[in-house]
Amino acid sequence: MRTLISGGTIVTAEGSYPADVLVDGERIVQIGQGLAATVSADETIDASGRYVIPGGIDVHTHMELPFGGTFAKDTFETGTRAAAFGGTTTVVDFAVQSKGKSLREGLDAWHAKAEGNAVIDYGFHMIMSDVTDASLAEMDQLVAEGIPDFKLFTAYPGVFYSDDGAIFRAMQRTAKNGGLIMMHAENGLAIDVIAADTVAAGTDPIGHGLARYSGLEGEATSRVIRLAEAAKVPVYIVHLSAREALDAVRMARDEGLPTFAETCPQYLFLSLDDLGHGFEGAKFVCSPPLRTEDHQPELWKGLVKDDLQVVSTDHCPFDFHGQKDLGKDDFRKIPNGLPGVEDRMDLLHDGGVVAGRISKERWVEITSTAPARLFGMYPRKGTISVGTDADIVVYDPNRKRTISAKTHHMAVDYSCYEGRSVQGAADVVMSRGSVVVRSGEFIGRRGAGQFLKRATADYARMA
Ligand code: URP
Ligand code: ZN
Ligand code: ZN
Repeated sequence: MRTLISGGTIVTAEGSYPADVLVDGERIVQIGQGLAATVSADETIDASGRYVIPGGIDVHTHMELPFGGTFAKDTFETGTRAAAFGGTTTVVDFAVQSKGKSLREGLDAWHAKAEGNAVIDYGFHMIMSDVTDASLAEMDQLVAEGIPDFKLFTAYPGVFYSDDGAIFRAMQRTAKNGGLIMMHAENGLAIDVIAADTVAAGTDPIGHGLARYSGLEGEATSRVIRLAEAAKVPVYIVHLSAREALDAVRMARDEGLPTFAETCPQYLFLSLDDLGHGFEGAKFVCSPPLRTEDHQPELWKGLVKDDLQVVSTDHCPFDFHGQKDLGKDDFRKIPNGLPGVEDRMDLLHDGGVVAGRISKERWVEITSTAPARLFGMYPRKGTISVGTDADIVVYDPNRKRTISAKTHHMAVDYSCYEGRSVQGAADVVMSRGSVVVRSGEFIGRRGAGQFLKRATADYARMA
């Protein structure tokens, strides 16, 4: 099957230019102007007036994550389908090692969830919640199998939490096997003490935001950066939300340390105020929590100056009715996480490019190219060039839509952005040469997504 995408403007992290793209099978085989006159194709997609961009890559999702006695609602089928509607063609999800279990058991469970269900390509990172001699040894095998990143937590004592010694041992292992440690950096031990005091004064969701001080994200971020420095490895800070944490990342990068970080749309567009309004605030409970609005310009500055390299979603959806309400009498029991995999590209186009904060090239870079480079998928994914996977989005930068739970495709009963109007939307979404979404219709296939065996993050080591 040969498909010609004609008349569009190719937008990559490097630049933008008018050109046609010829796809043969699963790959891009030719790029040039006026290809319609010189090549034959089974189908031509008219991209005039629109951008032709590499499909979005969301390197932080949690399909079916067990949390707080329940499971994140999206399966690999519903979650990757929703991702595709929003112009994302690759996700990297977090497989979970439960305490007392091996990495292998967690990984096998995640392969079973995804295989035959995902509609777009997917990879895995591994959550390590039990650092032992055995699990450290298993890390090497996972790196060899294309799962080269490991998330550890200074938060959630008793669940995912690791102490500094455990984190340091995992880092020392990646110094040898080339893997990358991803850190959830909040001082969970102190936060739990503050949260216990806070809940005694009031059980509403706002307590979640008030208890998780931004300074304690800054402290933990600084600490894990220094642990990585001592272990002589790169480190990647996930879902960075606070000015204090960004300051720690910036300082490390200014010193030349291989420190990397992502933020998420919720920290750019939502705020602590959303946690108010009584129990409605439960819809916005995630960790780290939404911060006061004054953190947002700092995060945008971080994205402009490349102290933040990636925007991922931390997609972890729980229904308001039947899941978030597990915490109606105690905010500490609200499952942590927000839906977002479908809206990332449009929110960042609207709030970033249309609002004049970032260029369209930087938009592509933070949502696709940088994640591909940092997580061992580049240049197969993350750009438009000859030989790459034909993960392509024909994106209309002018179409306006209103975000709503009534029309979204995520398996969750609310939207954090209900009623928000955004400019920019994916018209055609192609995954490895097959159209999966066209004009608001899903025409892909359950199970068509393939597991991505990823390389180690050489880019992180070089930077
Ligand atoms: O609130 C969040 N972020 N839930 C998902 C788990 C995590 O810490 O990433
Ligand atoms: Zn986390
Ligand atoms: Zn997460």
